[in-house]
Amino acid sequence: MTSQDWNADEYSEHAAFVAELAVDVIKLLAPCSGERILDLGCGDGRLTKFLQEQGCDMYGIDGSPEMIEKTQELGIPCAVMDGHSLTFNSEFDAVFSNAALHWMTQPRDVVKGIYAALKPGGRMVVEFGGKGNTKKIMTAISETLAESGQPDYDLPWYFPDEQEYTTVLEEAGFEVQQIELVNRPTPLESGMRKWLELFTSGITANMDDEARLAFQDNVCAKLRPELFDLEQGWWADYVRLRVKATKPL
Ligand code: BEZ
Repeated sequence: MTSQDWNADEYSEHAAFVAELAVDVIKLLAPCSGERILDLGCGDGRLTKFLQEQGCDMYGIDGSPEMIEKTQELGIPCAVMDGHSLTFNSEFDAVFSNAALHWMTQPRDVVKGIYAALKPGGRMVVEFGGKGNTKKIMTAISETLAESGQPDYDLPWYFPDEQEYTTVLEEAGFEVQQIELVNRPTPLESGMRKWLELFTSGITANMDDEARLAFQDNVCAKLRPELFDLEQGWWADYVRLRVKATKPL
């Protein structure tokens, strides 16, 4: 697989729902003015900006240079950095992350870096795809790949359940305050094809235009009976894992 390629303008236009649906994880973060907070996988910086406007001293990191450019344009200190190899040392009151950790397939490396980044007593508040996330979409993608001769293709996402992720957190030294799987069916205003364009570029990178369009057509055709409604349009079968854990004093 080639790595996911992000089109930051398209993401801002067609994936605004990602930030808009972060109300509950922001409530769980309960940000206080003056706190120094790392936004891990800050994307286009929309939520980072919101937290900055609440008076937080924000720092954003993302693996995509395009996304970091967008975040920088919003006046937020930030850097391109792989979440698997964070370089911070006891400097944040909180590490926040929305809809990013499922892109990082070595969770122990990520959680180790988060733990090191936090001050003693600091908290990690994150939400990302959990077990069963986008199961219908993943099944349609796997079936389509198998039909085109790639039956054993490993999809590049990590969707753990509460027990598995609790183990990862506790092994790193965290105390888990809250961890829950939340079903969150999500309307896709820009449709399923646009979702596939935005989020499966790593899978289709080696396809020519014709093969890519055929892949998207086939996935949409498989999903239409389950995830399309004439009145509501397309939706995605999102399941979120919402987590709060603290580094002991
Ligand atoms: C998600 O946000 O759940 C997601 C996004 C892209 C691919 C897979 C899952």
